[in-house]
Amino acid sequence: MASKPWSGRFTEKTDKLVEEFNASISFDKRLYKHDIMGSITHARMLAKVGILTKKEVDKIISGLKAIEKEIVAGKFRFTPDLEDIHMAIEKRLIEKIGPVGGKLHTARSRNDQVALDVRLYLRDEIKEIQSLIRDLQKALVNVAKKNLDCIMPGYTHLQRAQPILFSHHLLAYYEMLKRDHERIADCLTRVNVMPLGAGALAGSPYPLDRDFVAKELGFAKPTDNSLDSVSDRDFCIEFCGAASILMMHLSRLSEEFILWSSQEFGFIELSDAFSTGSSIMPQKKNPDVPELVRGKTGRVYGNLLSLLTTMKALPLAYNKDMQEDKEALFDTVDTVKDCLKVFSPMLTTMKINKKKMLNATKQGFLTATDAADYLVKKGVPFRESHHITGRVVAYCIKTSQGLEDLSIDEWRGFSKAFGKDIKEVISVEASVKSKKAKGGTAPEAVKRRLKEIEREMR
Ligand code: ARG
Repeated sequence: MASKPWSGRFTEKTDKLVEEFNASISFDKRLYKHDIMGSITHARMLAKVGILTKKEVDKIISGLKAIEKEIVAGKFRFTPDLEDIHMAIEKRLIEKIGPVGGKLHTARSRNDQVALDVRLYLRDEIKEIQSLIRDLQKALVNVAKKNLDCIMPGYTHLQRAQPILFSHHLLAYYEMLKRDHERIADCLTRVNVMPLGAGALAGSPYPLDRDFVAKELGFAKPTDNSLDSVSDRDFCIEFCGAASILMMHLSRLSEEFILWSSQEFGFIELSDAFSTGSSIMPQKKNPDVPELVRGKTGRVYGNLLSLLTTMKALPLAYNKDMQEDKEALFDTVDTVKDCLKVFSPMLTTMKINKKKMLNATKQGFLTATDAADYLVKKGVPFRESHHITGRVVAYCIKTSQGLEDLSIDEWRGFSKAFGKDIKEVISVEASVKSKKAKGGTAPEAVKRRLKEIEREMR
């Protein structure tokens, strides 16, 4: 019976089923490093305010460090009777250094302890994810820079719309990732507050130095309300929200890679190292990686919904329901990292079929809008010029020609405002070149943006 730290008021042993059901150690053991880091700082603070002696705190700290080594070396036994990582480490500490180990939990509850650990953990993971986002942004920029001469059809409604630079298309994802990075950085400001000292829920009767703990652990400040400190999981939800938007972006790019690598498009070819084959159809090369990223987006959304639902209508303060936050959070962190890691090399190793992309711009009258704009410059109201150009397109469809095949007489048959120079205006290259206002697809505008991006990424 004495095995449970909380067993004092109990006369019966915990049912085996309940022990398994209640335990979180199988998944929260990944918090061990942060739990130990938090405990060491807590112990030092207790010594600082005179609750522990120097000798006691030294013993506790060396005990905790030894336990960390045991865990790293794989020598620590994680069993369900230890309930969670917090109790497991505390129990082992007492085993190792004797009753003085029992002083570590003074002025602390697992409720504020777990809140601290999750914040410390997520803070580290956020920094790693931010750097992975940067890597992917760099990969996008590199591929964009190398292929500035590549023109492709831009789409709306998945119908060919206007010619654009392939680089411009890729850099659209740079902008999305830039917002993702900002969103996660913003979330970090709310992750980075220090809840220890809230106790179980009401605060602490001890003369704690919470500023010291916050400062030592690199937090911006201690939290301001003990009830909120132990029951707040907003920061996890925010992170999962930001991660969901990030995954939504990755899944959109995945979808484009999947489409582009199909025979119907043939715009890109993923490298063999980032594709897989079929067990029955020998000819197949499948884009499994982007498909999986697209698929995993669903589970990240699911984690967000699961967290929101777990927290819905929970009364203050801590409730055991909140133990369910961890698997959703951990899975989100793991999934996002895996997807980001595989995406950058997939992008930089894919083959870009410039010819196919350019050819695709030659069918579908992609420069019809340029012809309409040409008439506007000659003083024709846009609505009228739109109509005239529509009739030109209809004529081309009927006579099986492209806009570039029309003779100047044919053009002038539709409007006397058409001059010889219409032939140049409706070339794909001229169309792209003309979109030079800020944010447009003209090589000039894209190069300008690339210069700015270089500065942003520094
Ligand atoms: N394993 C728990 C969790 O993850 C730690 C906090 C438990 N607190 C308690 N009073 N039972 O939420």
